[in-house]
Amino acid sequence: SAAQAEKPKHKEVLNIAHRGASAYAPEHTIPSYEMGDRMKGDYIEIDLQMTQDGRLIAMHDETLDRTTDGTGLVKDHTLAEIKKLDAGSWFNKENPQYAKSEYEGLEVPTLEEVIEHFGKNRKYYIETKAPDVYPGMEEKLLEILDRYGLTDKQAFKKNRVLIQSFSQESLMKIQQLNPDIPLIQLLWYETPAQISDEELEGIREYAVGVGPNHEQIDRSYVEKVREHRLEIHPYTVNSQEDMKKLIDWGVTGLFTNHPDRLREVLKDK
Ligand code: G3P
Ligand code: CA
Repeated sequence: SAAQAEKPKHKEVLNIAHRGASAYAPEHTIPSYEMGDRMKGDYIEIDLQMTQDGRLIAMHDETLDRTTDGTGLVKDHTLAEIKKLDAGSWFNKENPQYAKSEYEGLEVPTLEEVIEHFGKNRKYYIETKAPDVYPGMEEKLLEILDRYGLTDKQAFKKNRVLIQSFSQESLMKIQQLNPDIPLIQLLWYETPAQISDEELEGIREYAVGVGPNHEQIDRSYVEKVREHRLEIHPYTVNSQEDMKKLIDWGVTGLFTNHPDRLREVLKDK
């Protein structure tokens, strides 16, 4: 049928290493991103926060408490202060089965450090987190991407960078700064997800796709998004059973803490 013809081939489903291979290594550290790469993730997923002195760092939370031995808000600390913190030992305590001594004392990386480490030939799936807390975050992000050649024509052709946010305002700001960067609108549903044609057409004006939490969506939601020719990358999908189900429904990518599990599922397709 026509609907089936529009479905992506299974091999095109993007494997997005969520905070790196964060099931196996401390999230948002270089070893976690490296492991995502070794497990054949297509994209390194990076959440951004901004320090008191205006530097973009890879961190999920607005506070330092969960993933470092520091406390308090990121925005109240300078990069130099954050660089002194240990971003790995917490993982060893919480995940004894995957603990490694080399994780002790890992640094929080800046966005520049991540790009310098992995280079222009990797793919980055970057989220502006809490953009309302960090005025100027979008300008800084684009300035860094420009500096590393990730916004030139060649990079766009190869989809080197996707930018995601729950904040429509942040995405629109980025679109104004550079209309060529592909954007993903993140969505969160507490109850079974519904999305209208109007909403999808609205999103299509600035974004190439949506990223909903996977627990509340169903086949008809996925098909509706695809009918509007939008990508759909649900998060965060960790069981192979869920991966298979979502791929069967027609998703075009998945965020996962287990890129190895998704790679295995995609191999069998
Ligand atoms: O970016 C997709 C997904 O990561 C959104 O949730 O809280 O893990 O950043 P979160
Ligand atoms: Ca994220």
